[in-house]
Amino acid sequence: MTQLALLGGPPAKTKPFPAWPCYDQREQKALLEVLESRRWWRTEGSWVARFEQDFASYHGAKHGIAITNGTHALEVALAALGVGPGDEVIVPDATFVATASAVLFAGAMPVMVDICPDTECIDPDRVEAAITPRTRGVIPVHLGGHPADLDRLVQIATKHNLFLLEDCAHAHGSQWHGKQVGTYGCAGTFSFQSSKLMTAGEGGIIITSDDGLERNLRSIHDCGRLPGEWFYSHYMYGSNYRLTEWQGAILSAQLERLDEQTQRRDANGQLLDRLLAEVPGITPQARDPRCTRNGHYAYILHFDNREFSGISSQRFIEAVVAEGIPNQAAYPQVHKLAMFQNGSYRKRLCRDQAAEEHSFLKGSFPNSLRAATEDYWIPQYCLLGDEQDMHQIAEAIVKVQEHASSLIQH
Ligand SMILES: Cc1ncc(COP(=O)(O)O)c(C=O)c1O
Repeated sequence: MTQLALLGGPPAKTKPFPAWPCYDQREQKALLEVLESRRWWRTEGSWVARFEQDFASYHGAKHGIAITNGTHALEVALAALGVGPGDEVIVPDATFVATASAVLFAGAMPVMVDICPDTECIDPDRVEAAITPRTRGVIPVHLGGHPADLDRLVQIATKHNLFLLEDCAHAHGSQWHGKQVGTYGCAGTFSFQSSKLMTAGEGGIIITSDDGLERNLRSIHDCGRLPGEWFYSHYMYGSNYRLTEWQGAILSAQLERLDEQTQRRDANGQLLDRLLAEVPGITPQARDPRCTRNGHYAYILHFDNREFSGISSQRFIEAVVAEGIPNQAAYPQVHKLAMFQNGSYRKRLCRDQAAEEHSFLKGSFPNSLRAATEDYWIPQYCLLGDEQDMHQIAEAIVKVQEHASSLIQH
């Protein structure tokens, strides 16, 4: 066995992963059509409108409202749901900041709860324990593409009369009991930022089958206008969250590939699960049997340094990256972010809520801590490779394991 790449040996990965973002003549043709049409604005064009309908239909929802990005999609959804000062919304402690900051943008308090140790998605027991008279809703995140426990979450939301807004930024095409995510709650939000499962560089969408909610979402995302009404009539709070026709064109082309790519990522993810099951100290994010398809924004695995000669997570990551396997940093714990620890989040809250003690921010979140400090995230485009690529990922990790003691000496 050759020396570790980190110490000058040849990397385990011998052929490159597929390039991301991917495109072909479909994106080129669509962009040229937009250019030559001179209709670059969604209000005059048809690409965004068509994409909204196609994306919603693909996910089994009635409506799609395209939005400037995934953060804004959450903000628009919370505005449409009437979340405001004095309210609380429960979010997982392991997610990108947007899930929580969108709640603050609405002037409400994001209440973080810990995740399940196996699936790393929000823990429904913790959700139920965190409900207070002020709680308006829950935003589960389908972390890395794996659905949160939607059976329990729907049940809890129904029982306590809360909204369930699914943050599907990682989970385009993921399924739970054979039904697409984003359709279990009142709405689902998605991101099309560059690293996501389909992309226009930036972008987002909200899907819903609730006609009343759709009306508000559409209005809020377009300065409070209502379809069919005079351009300068504004009926409710709104802002400009519209997507451009350029993005609508690219996303229409990207959507054509989503199903095939999701199947490939899911199959490769399951192959990696089997290969890594043989490696002591490596525990992939668990797949719940009710998850019938994982869109796999990332392949997440937990690393136990006791099986790797005690090397630190940082050293493990460096060594595996040097072998040619990219790593996308795991999210830091949300409650530990500077904005929560230095108190600046309070500026978004109403006076009473801002003055209160938020003791949960000092609480213990052992599972999100473990996920933040001991996980390796392999980005989604690696799962678009072939079986040989998956074998080389496993070989790289085994190589690091076999040579881990040499990292202690250096
Ligand atoms: C879970 C989650 N929610 C929301 C977002 C926000 O999406 P965007 O970057 O498009 O604003 C992201 C982006 O990384 C995310 O990972």
